[in-house]
Amino acid sequence: MTRNIIITGGAGFIGSHLVRLLVNKYPDYHIINVDKLTYAGNLANLSDIENYPNYTFVKADICDYDRMLEVMKMYKVDAVIHLAAESHVDRSITDPFTFARTNVMGTLTLLQAARIYWESLPEKYEGKRFHHVSTDEVYGALELTDPDGVESPFTTAASSEHHHAYGRDFFVETTKYNPHSPYSAAKASSDHFVRAYHDTYGMPVVVTNCSNNYGPYQFPEKFIPLFINNIRLHRPLPVYGRGENVRDWLYVEDHARALDLVFHKGKDADTYNIGGFNEWKNIDIVRLLVRTVDRLLGNPEGYSDSLVTFVTDRAGHDLRYAIDSRKIYRELGWEPSLQFEEGLEKTVRWYLENQQWVDDVTSGDYQKYYESMYSGR
Ligand code: NAD
Ligand code: TYD
Repeated sequence: MTRNIIITGGAGFIGSHLVRLLVNKYPDYHIINVDKLTYAGNLANLSDIENYPNYTFVKADICDYDRMLEVMKMYKVDAVIHLAAESHVDRSITDPFTFARTNVMGTLTLLQAARIYWESLPEKYEGKRFHHVSTDEVYGALELTDPDGVESPFTTAASSEHHHAYGRDFFVETTKYNPHSPYSAAKASSDHFVRAYHDTYGMPVVVTNCSNNYGPYQFPEKFIPLFINNIRLHRPLPVYGRGENVRDWLYVEDHARALDLVFHKGKDADTYNIGGFNEWKNIDIVRLLVRTVDRLLGNPEGYSDSLVTFVTDRAGHDLRYAIDSRKIYRELGWEPSLQFEEGLEKTVRWYLENQQWVDDVTSGDYQKYYESMYSGR
């Protein structure tokens, strides 16, 4: 079956993995990557597939209603997988308005353009889907408690040695929203708008809320790539607070596979949580990263230990995120494919082998190159 699918934010971290997966897996689909190319968007992430016949890049801002409607009509779009967002919590603390603009108004603009276009067609919402990609951070924060008796539902263990839970409470699909950062507040608001478009206008929507992703092409302002790069450059590793905060980590390609599955098989108007059942304290990841990078660079054991620097905690720093992903496992048969240590080693190797990519994105050179290429389009 032919489908014309907009992926917003396809030049970003998760979006680029999803675009790559779908253009390779579904040659009959036309994937239209709509991305504004902010500092976080980089077309070099997609250089291997940029000439595929079933792939088109459109440089556009999701807040531009006329442009969104034009793109919907031009490509006869019948589905949207929406990832474009401002995504870094620390930036949201210093610049909350940009987060409200893109994450809230951008999502609303896209919903409205899809509604106006789809409602203008004879078949209306038949065969259409708006898949909104969101985060576990909308649910707020969990306590650290005794995880006694908590078992991973997955047949592929999320982690070999490490225990995988720091509490008995998990975010389920019905957990009440309780966002704390401007980032998560803006994402929560966008989730509500998506559900409101279903309830008010009958738009076929589906929402996924995923835990922290890691892997290749993640912008090195985020924890794992920032620390890999700093260890390589022998720079301090700024651990917020005491490094006791817990996150549930998932390899980005496993998230992309889950999105593919939910997009195709997820129930209309439903929500699916996606997570690795793989909780780690930040400080334990730092220790693992230091060991791994030192080993791969041939440094003596303990060489980079002294780089660990405890710094002032992030304002409103959520203590623990933990996703219960049993619904997507049970209903759609999804589970992570990689153990965390395996995925982290792959990730470290990728960053060490792709230093040019890291240097380009940290210097901003890629933006100058693509700005000249796409100016006027
Ligand atoms: P990212 O910051 O790497 O990429 C975001 C992309 O969106 C970039 O390519 C950027 O150019 C584009 N973009 C930003 N503003 C835009 C606008 N106004 N118009 C068009 N394009 C715009 O983000 P990511 O980490 O890949 O996250 C993608 C999505 O997944 C986000 O919605 C995020 O909330 C969600 N998410 C991320 C994680 C994670 O761990 N990274 C976890 C769960 C959910
Ligand atoms: P981050 O990658 O920003 O993701 P999020 O805040 O969305 O979970 O951060 C992951 C964890 O790492 C979070 O608890 C904050 C912490 N952190 C640091 O300790 N130092 C840093 O420099 C960064 C960027 C994050």
